[in-house]
Amino acid sequence: TKAVTVDEGFVNTGSTTSDITFLDGEKGVLRYRGYAIEDLAAHCDFVEVAYLLIYGELPKLEDLESFRHNLRQHTMLHEDITKFYDGFQHDAHPMAILSSVVMALSTFYNDSLGFDDPKDIDRCVMRLMAKVPTIASYAHKKSIGQPMVYPKNSLGYCENFLHMMFSVPAEEYEIDPVHAEALNLLLIVHADHEQNCSTSTVRMVGSSDANLFASISAGICALWGPLHGGANEACVSMLERIREDGGNVAKYVEMAKKKDSGFRLMGFGHRVYKNYDPRAKIIKAACDRLLQSQQIHDPIFHIAQELEQVALTDDYFIERKLYPNVDFYSGVIYRALGIPVEMFTVLFAMGRLPGWIAHWIEMRNSPGKRINRPRQVYTGPTKRPLTPIEQR
Ligand code: CMC
Repeated sequence: TKAVTVDEGFVNTGSTTSDITFLDGEKGVLRYRGYAIEDLAAHCDFVEVAYLLIYGELPKLEDLESFRHNLRQHTMLHEDITKFYDGFQHDAHPMAILSSVVMALSTFYNDSLGFDDPKDIDRCVMRLMAKVPTIASYAHKKSIGQPMVYPKNSLGYCENFLHMMFSVPAEEYEIDPVHAEALNLLLIVHADHEQNCSTSTVRMVGSSDANLFASISAGICALWGPLHGGANEACVSMLERIREDGGNVAKYVEMAKKKDSGFRLMGFGHRVYKNYDPRAKIIKAACDRLLQSQQIHDPIFHIAQELEQVALTDDYFIERKLYPNVDFYSGVIYRALGIPVEMFTVLFAMGRLPGWIAHWIEMRNSPGKRINRPRQVYTGPTKRPLTPIEQR
């Protein structure tokens, strides 16, 4: 057996080969299946990008239509699933609800979880892609005490989500196409990011042949942490805190530099990007456009811009190559769409879903597939005599 080497946090350890996403952290380059993120964001809609990630190629018009049609078939939740929501505390975090209900889906499709027939996987993919927005919007409705709004299948993917989030039975919400477009862009830039923490979790869980619902539910749990997807929520809370504290940006930059403060600039820094995160660039520009076109004056946006400027000219951040990441400006857009802060990471999960699915399928089909089982270097006590309890 080979000697085991430890790489805490897997900084230099490749867990797999992958054909899905290319990332050059030094140059700030991100491509899905060979297509630049900037091109995808400018020309595609999220469902098209999801198809690309899952099936490997951009769809032809008829493929896309059939994919959309299949998704529309599955947007409803079994009425019994809605009963789960009654059991959750009214102030439950929607990420907890999302991961629980995604897992609960597996109890409703028990007959096809062996995936003996390839069609079972595809059905499972459609169910997840179609139902996650419904599950997510129901979590929001539960938290504000409003009745759940059924999906409306004549609407597009993003429009339908906004409808379920904001319509009430007595009054249908009028969807602003600018909002749907902004949401579409955010979902695209979140759709995949190679072997990040949640995607590695999905692959890890799936490597034991656990089913897709179980693997995705685990990925949602990994995403929830504030060092990962939870950073978008933590970032807006931080910006709010700075605003309430008089907008003294420099004070917070100084605090982030002191290790014993326990405070980090949320939405800053990345394991792989040592350059401006290309997603943050796209989001910042979209944020600027959206706020200007809607004439929204969000003080948080100004604080974010100021914070970025101060941090990017500070030696601490320059030396460590810490730049704004995907989570820095996304929250400002979500706020402009009227999405409450506790739903931000749920939106990240909705975007990342096709990436997780693509990785789970790639892992499963890999010719060298084995159960993921890292080793360790043991550092505990050496063999010692046991003292019976009455003599301890
Ligand atoms: N504020 C202040 N200092 C920081 C920050 C920050 N946001 N991020 C990293 N550093 C410092 C860190 O203290 C360390 O300094 P030193 O070398 O003196 O010990 C150095 O920069 C390297 O940081 P690290 O923690 O070793 O880097 P990592 O690759 O293990 O962690 C990270 C990456 C994203 C977890 C980290 O940068 C971080 O905590 N950022 C804030 C949370 C955040 O925005 N997360 C979202 C990441 S992007 C999207 C996603 O994954 O969901």
